[in-house]
Amino acid sequence: MPSVAIVYFSVSGHTQQVAEAVAEGAKSVHGTDVLLLRIVGEDIVNGRWKNDAITDALNSADAIVFGTPTYMGGYAAQFKTFIDACGGIWHQQGWKDKIGAAFTHSQGLSGDKLNTLVGLMINAMQHGMVWVGTSGMPEGATPEKTNRLSSYTGAMAQSNMDQPNIGPGDRHTAVILGKRVAEAAARWV
Ligand SMILES: Cc1cc2nc3c(=O)[nH]c(=O)nc-3n(C[C@H](O)[C@H](O)[C@H](O)COP(=O)(O)O)c2cc1C
Repeated sequence: MPSVAIVYFSVSGHTQQVAEAVAEGAKSVHGTDVLLLRIVGEDIVNGRWKNDAITDALNSADAIVFGTPTYMGGYAAQFKTFIDACGGIWHQQGWKDKIGAAFTHSQGLSGDKLNTLVGLMINAMQHGMVWVGTSGMPEGATPEKTNRLSSYTGAMAQSNMDQPNIGPGDRHTAVILGKRVAEAAARWV
């Protein structure tokens, strides 16, 4: 049974909604085990992130999907502490040949989200992972359209801070990414 772990950081819940949509997509592939793992500030002490339960779960997963809001054109600092804490795993190449994918949410239509996804992809490449992008043509640019932000490296979502929920197109884009990751993991394992 392939397993997909979705590890993410979120403050006001938008990135969490994207993570939940990725999970929904992964669960739609029969027999996939799906875990949602949240990075929280309480696990960062003196600038260092540590949570052995999350690390163990990631080490056991066949696929890892990384998700963070875009802050100042890159990952949120809290998520970076998690990424850096996994440097020891990199040293052992413990995630080599796992499937990898990513998503990000930000307030701006661009907001430099691509830089966040590229950073997450480079991290996965350093770990020797196998990257899965969104695939699929953008349906259009309005909020109900799938892949309306035309992102292929990973799923992008955008909403204004006065919008409590992400839009239907961005949500569907994330569902598709989750399904694609689970299908890739099933083929890969
Ligand atoms: C410190 C900070 C920096 C931010 N930088 C950007 C940015 O570079 N581009 C952008 O579009 N939005 C930016 N935002 C808005 C965030 O992307 C937005 O608050 C976040 O995606 C909300 O996610 P959440 O609801 O999961 O916490 C920034 C927000 C904060 C707090």
